[in-house]
Amino acid sequence: MRLVGVIGSGIMGSGIAEVIAKSGIDVVIRSRSQETADATKNAIESSLKKQLAKSKISQEQLDAAMAHICVTSTLDDLANCDLIIESVAEDLATKKELFAALDKAVKPSCILSTNTSTLPVIELAKVTNRPDKVCGIHFFNPAVLMPLVEVVRPITASDETIALANSFVKACAKDAVQVVDRAGFIVNALLFPYLNNAIAMFEAGTASMEDIDVAMKGGCNFPMGPFALLDLVGLDTSVAILDALHAEFKSANLEPRPMLKKLVSEGKLGRKTKQGFYSY
Ligand SMILES: NC(=O)c1ccc[n+]([C@@H]2O[C@H](COP(=O)([O-])OP(=O)(O)OC[C@H]3O[C@@H](n4cnc5c(N)ncnc54)[C@H](O)[C@@H]3O)[C@@H](O)[C@H]2O)c1
Repeated sequence: MRLVGVIGSGIMGSGIAEVIAKSGIDVVIRSRSQETADATKNAIESSLKKQLAKSKISQEQLDAAMAHICVTSTLDDLANCDLIIESVAEDLATKKELFAALDKAVKPSCILSTNTSTLPVIELAKVTNRPDKVCGIHFFNPAVLMPLVEVVRPITASDETIALANSFVKACAKDAVQVVDRAGFIVNALLFPYLNNAIAMFEAGTASMEDIDVAMKGGCNFPMGPFALLDLVGLDTSVAILDALHAEFKSANLEPRPMLKKLVSEGKLGRKTKQGFYSY
């Protein structure tokens, strides 16, 4: 991969672009407006400066990473990309519209991938004329720190596409696991029933949010408790993930809990809005 396009400049798009640039690969970030595109480049520079201050990277590494990043607000600037990673909001209709447009905008050999947490990758492959070149490349949050990437294989993907996705993940110094195209893939299919149950436990008055978080950190050696993790993921994204899991597996346990939906309807989306289960 010589040039990778990242679409979406939220929590994940920005983190993924930073990982790619630090790996010495050119990356172009496409955001819907030039202002947010520029802000994303600045945010990545701030993130790299923090790593420099902690002596995790050198000034040369910071400069080299920044030299690999450019930003745009138009899809046409992605025409020469070898790989696209779509990371916009977790909404199937939005992603389908984007994949149809991308299919027309980028060169025929380009692989189109999605960072979706749960949505069916096959639905995105079907709106393109290159279903063999569509797969999932699912990073974890925060992308810069988390070592895992799930490579998701819809039935339409060719062996070559999956092999290229794997070699890209390796080039980013991440660990790849393979998974078929089923809601939640490996990690979220196992994680989100637990997170939803933690909210149910709080709603039932069994324990406070704080104590549930302390319990799961101290009792299971998890790095953070379920409420802190939900706020990190984003509560809107969490509802979308649970909706997709519920649509596929039908278990009542997977229906987003009322408290989660209420916070989202109030615009309290977690860390990104400075208010979710906790205040930031
Ligand atoms: N948050 C997580 O922990 C996490 C982890 C792994 C994967 N993901 C997945 O990554 C993707 C992005 O999630 P995020 O957490 O970065 O969300 P976010 O809310 O931080 O960012 C979403 C981005 O999508 C853009 N967007 C929204 N609607 C759009 C549209 N119609 N066209 C183009 N762009 C649009 C927004 O402007 C924003 O830049 C989702 O598919 C999500 O499931 C999220």
